[in-house]
Amino acid sequence: MPSAVKAVLLVGGLGTRLRPLTYRIPKPLIPVMGKPLVMHVIDSMPAEIDEIIIPVSYKKEMMEDYLQKNRPKRRITLVDEPEPMGTGGAVKNVEKHIDGQFLVINGDSISSLDIAKFIKFHRQKKAFASISLWPVDDPTPYGIVDLAKDDRIRRFQEKPKKEEAFSNLINAGAYALEHEVLDHIGKGFVSMEREVFPRILDRGMYGMQFDGYWIDCGRRENLLEAFWALMGRDTRDIDKKCVQEGAELRAPVVVRQDAVIAGATVGPHAYISERAVIGIRSRVERSVILEDARVGARCQIRDSIVDVGVTVPDGTVVESEILSSAKATDR
Ligand code: GDD
Ligand code: MG
Repeated sequence: MPSAVKAVLLVGGLGTRLRPLTYRIPKPLIPVMGKPLVMHVIDSMPAEIDEIIIPVSYKKEMMEDYLQKNRPKRRITLVDEPEPMGTGGAVKNVEKHIDGQFLVINGDSISSLDIAKFIKFHRQKKAFASISLWPVDDPTPYGIVDLAKDDRIRRFQEKPKKEEAFSNLINAGAYALEHEVLDHIGKGFVSMEREVFPRILDRGMYGMQFDGYWIDCGRRENLLEAFWALMGRDTRDIDKKCVQEGAELRAPVVVRQDAVIAGATVGPHAYISERAVIGIRSRVERSVILEDARVGARCQIRDSIVDVGVTVPDGTVVESEILSSAKATDR
């Protein structure tokens, strides 16, 4: 019987690349196909993770409130992080809750990583630290590893410049760590990736690749990709009441309850949330329209996210944008 491990879920970032949406809600609460990002991550954790520790700072009350009302079926411990302390500092801040080997998971991506298998990998390698890995075309917005044949990580570099990218295998944001790693995290603001990993490299860091999917949800383009990946080919049953005469739906598309598609063309790749309205002769593709938003007539919306309750005036063209009425002062 493998012993239980605790996981630290990192969701405390400001979500700057998803502003202005993240002025209204913190990134982990952004609904992906109707379910907050953080719940996708929590639900992907195996039973042997018996406690999830979440350091919270940005929009802490909203996180607390959500988790109170929608209690996941396992122990969740929220720990106050008054100011963002960086990915390493946040882990150090919850040190007293950690009692042995533990996991750290970035809460802003969704993936098919088999976490139980990852823990096993870490134990078999007798690693000091293990990192989940995923290949990408452009590794510059991520952390990269140089992996030896025996899966040992020889080098780690965060946010490499194009010319210095020695690998396209990136840190997919899940770590299995020995308790002693905590001794290598200093006080104050500390980056796990920039400071701690390079420092502990020679103690034995290993990388595990996996199959399936890994989608970063930290930027608009990727967040939209997450919807399309989860939506797949099969379009959900759409209530006929939602689709008015002259409307055209191009699969894959999801239209949720009480939304209204007037004579508009929606899809391919569109997610229309509850009670949203799409006006006559408008076109919505590769976009997500959140609850109660109203898209006027003759609008064109592409590669965009329209936030809850936003009204898009008739004839507006929206291309690669996040439309929200939330302001920086809402922080
Ligand atoms: N509690 C807390 N405090 N959480 C934080 C803080 C903080 O100060 N800063 C960031 N986080 C959380 C974010 O909410 C996110 O879930 C996770 O830590 C990673 O931070 P990001 O700001 O999203 O980092 P990134 O996307 O630029 O890069 C990281 O993730 C990539 C994979 O998505 C790095 O770990 C890269 O190496 C990695 O490839
Ligand atoms: Mg990120």
